[in-house]
Amino acid sequence: MTKPIKRIAVCTGGGDAPGLNAVIQSVVIASDNLGWQCYGIRDGFNGIMFPERYPEGGVYRLTRDKVRGIGHLGGTILGTTNKGNPLHFPVNMPDGTVREIDRSDELLTYFATHEIDALVSIGGDGSLTIADALHQKGLRVVGVPKTIDNDLDKTLTTFGFDTAVGFATECLDRLHSTAESHQRVMVVEVMGRYAGWIALHAGIAGNAHAILIPEIGFDIDKVAAKIRERETNGHLYSIVMVAEGAQAKDGHRELVAPAEVGHAERLGGIGEHIAQALGKITGKDTRVVVLGHLLRGGSPTSFDRLAALRFGAAAVRGLDAGQSGVMVSLGVNGVDYVTLEEVAGHIRNVPMDCDTLQTGHDLGISFGD
Ligand code: F6P
Repeated sequence: MTKPIKRIAVCTGGGDAPGLNAVIQSVVIASDNLGWQCYGIRDGFNGIMFPERYPEGGVYRLTRDKVRGIGHLGGTILGTTNKGNPLHFPVNMPDGTVREIDRSDELLTYFATHEIDALVSIGGDGSLTIADALHQKGLRVVGVPKTIDNDLDKTLTTFGFDTAVGFATECLDRLHSTAESHQRVMVVEVMGRYAGWIALHAGIAGNAHAILIPEIGFDIDKVAAKIRERETNGHLYSIVMVAEGAQAKDGHRELVAPAEVGHAERLGGIGEHIAQALGKITGKDTRVVVLGHLLRGGSPTSFDRLAALRFGAAAVRGLDAGQSGVMVSLGVNGVDYVTLEEVAGHIRNVPMDCDTLQTGHDLGISFGD
């Protein structure tokens, strides 16, 4: 018989995504309706690991009043971080080197001392891997899948993705007219890490003429051939959508910064690289637009808001039903639960046989292959 829940904590980790506040709101209201107290941890787990940074409290009580009217707001009222993973915490050694240590026991001690019975961890694969480790060590945990990248396994979608795709599509719509007026090639770089979901969905919805995604190694000459073919047919402009993780056939990827202890590598720069190459090969005027963090900002779409509210409420229902070590997921029949173990460490890429990709091929879009 598991101990009845009286108090839970909620945290948001990794890059922010539109819909985080809606999940927090849903968790707080649903848990309050069960008579539980809900606490928010600031900046991932930093509120516990660095109490000295938070004179007003690194962990604080989230009442209904604190979450009223936040569901439509971008960002996260709790703050977030993609540095300082408690499982691989960077520590400066006396010899000048940096070593990683596991500080997760400190979190468990905190929860035990403060009588927090369970955790709702809202995050992407990094946060869900941490959540899984905490569950393995005995904490009751339910994860909620967040990321604009849509690269989490075992869920049809993650909240944040629809908002990012909607915004990127609107940007493409706006770029068509200026590209056509100037007879230019516009290269648009979008986020997505090692998965091409944002580029693929927004590229097709926004009528891009070429879409380059990490899953398909591209040949720049094939992309240039597509631009030339359009010219031959009297279309003097082209839009090329590029995922930040797209790679040439030889496997080369552009980085802004390499991985370092405590932080993953930062992708970016492929748009500029492609624009220069296409300019050289085709002789056309080219420009680059990097949408970057704009994709993470703003209000969640109604789809993401609803998914976030459903996920938050389902996380609380799961805990109430005795679930732990699971992630709330969206399945074909609605919200479901999958084990964190199945999700942690698995990136969901665009499958080569998906009909969206096939649609792109059917429409004559070049994938650079
Ligand atoms: O995972 C979300 C994401 O926005 C990725 O698409 C991108 O590669 C990364 O985060 C950027 O992280 P940062 O905010 O640290 O630049």
